[in-house]
Amino acid sequence: MTDHPVPPEPTIKQFRERYETYAQLPPTGVPREEVLRVMREMAAEEQARWAEGYASGCVYNRDQDHIDFLIEAYAINSQSNPLHTDVWPSAVKYESEIVAMTASMLGGGHIGGGPGSPDGVCGTVSSGGSESIQLAMKTYRDYFRATKGITKPQMVVPETAHAAFDKSAQYFGIEIVHVPVGPDWRADVDAMADAVTDDTVVIVGSAPPFPHGIVDPIEELSEIARERGIGFHTDACLGGFVLPWAEKLGYDVPPFDFRLPGVTSISADTHKFGYAAKGTSVVLYRSQELRHYQYFTMTDWPGGLYCSPSFAGSRPGGLSAACWAAMVSIGEEGYLEATRRILETASTIKAGIEEMPELRLYGDPLFVIAFDSTDPALDIYRVNDAMTARGWALNPLHRPAALHLCVTQRHTQPGVAERFLGDLRAAIDWVRENPSSEGGMAPIYGMANTVPERGLVAEAMLDFMDGWYRLR
Ligand SMILES: Cc1ncc(COP(=O)(O)O)c(C=O)c1O
Repeated sequence: MTDHPVPPEPTIKQFRERYETYAQLPPTGVPREEVLRVMREMAAEEQARWAEGYASGCVYNRDQDHIDFLIEAYAINSQSNPLHTDVWPSAVKYESEIVAMTASMLGGGHIGGGPGSPDGVCGTVSSGGSESIQLAMKTYRDYFRATKGITKPQMVVPETAHAAFDKSAQYFGIEIVHVPVGPDWRADVDAMADAVTDDTVVIVGSAPPFPHGIVDPIEELSEIARERGIGFHTDACLGGFVLPWAEKLGYDVPPFDFRLPGVTSISADTHKFGYAAKGTSVVLYRSQELRHYQYFTMTDWPGGLYCSPSFAGSRPGGLSAACWAAMVSIGEEGYLEATRRILETASTIKAGIEEMPELRLYGDPLFVIAFDSTDPALDIYRVNDAMTARGWALNPLHRPAALHLCVTQRHTQPGVAERFLGDLRAAIDWVRENPSSEGGMAPIYGMANTVPERGLVAEAMLDFMDGWYRLR
């Protein structure tokens, strides 16, 4: 990793020059060895960054052994498609057990006959946090249309809720009401209650939210929903596989799961701190009645009787198999130990940031550490650029301008926390000593943070995504 403090030119096309570009199928197949060589070379370059703990979030597990194990589990099941339950009953076993294990972990044990029973907490496997959230939001829309006749549904979310809620609103024609958070970065309970109307179908809280990592007051928020007879969704995509173990380790974890009677659904990502490969998450419901509104059935299709529990039709059963393999091989003891290491590392990093007079830590988070600059002359986005030049991939936040590091097991490797703090100190010093340096992403983030015309910012993002798929 370079320690040169000049921000690099950001690019996502660095491999275009170096390797063959295919705008159409090659006339004859490229030899497999050659295909694999190219892939290995690119992956090796990328790996240094995430494997050595330079990235916020991204890769949550600790070691190559675990990855090799997941690869083997995937390889054994690579042809599996859970849509065809008759051909792959193993996928049925894996997915039903992933859901039951997650429900047990998230306070579902005391409801009905427990997870896996007809009256217990239930759910489905999805492809990731965004899909889990979208499934839940669609479910509330359809459930309350059928049971209460609500035709202009509304969801009430703290402004820190993940963008996937806005995506759901856009996709499913649900009005989304964003409520500002309080000075402690948590949802403002009174303001949330005031925002609820007769059309509200669901209130949302996060455990924790992506930006600042401080768990919302789920108990109070879910009570508002319970009193009004509407849904409450806890977004535990990020914390679902950390908070239960943090609580067992004695950390102060506010209640957020099905032990609260008002919580009617939860999203929890196996592909984050569940340590599965990317491509799986779990959405849970308090009752099967609710889950039925997620499902799709078609009785009159010439292609036969068709049903699917989530958005996709055919799905990668290998990913569910690898997820199940991760969960049963890690077990309670493994998750506890991983969480212990993560939270201890996060404490070291928080303490180090608190000692830097130019920085302000946001609250007292468990493992998502957000901070901004207390010095108006120190642009936190330029600090981010200087960190990028040192190999780091942190998350820049908006409104207000800040950065965060989501601590994973990769950061628990020896020396990583110290390297982060040392680089952060050096990055701040460099920005102070070079007040007029140019380049990097800081001007773009700065503009995007403040420009009143949000349409321009959205246009720039459309261009970015077009560029993603452009070959020349
Ligand atoms: C709190 C929270 N919810 C939802 C998501 C969306 O998850 P995914 O990127 O898997 O779709 C994230 C992702 O970081 C998250 O942090």
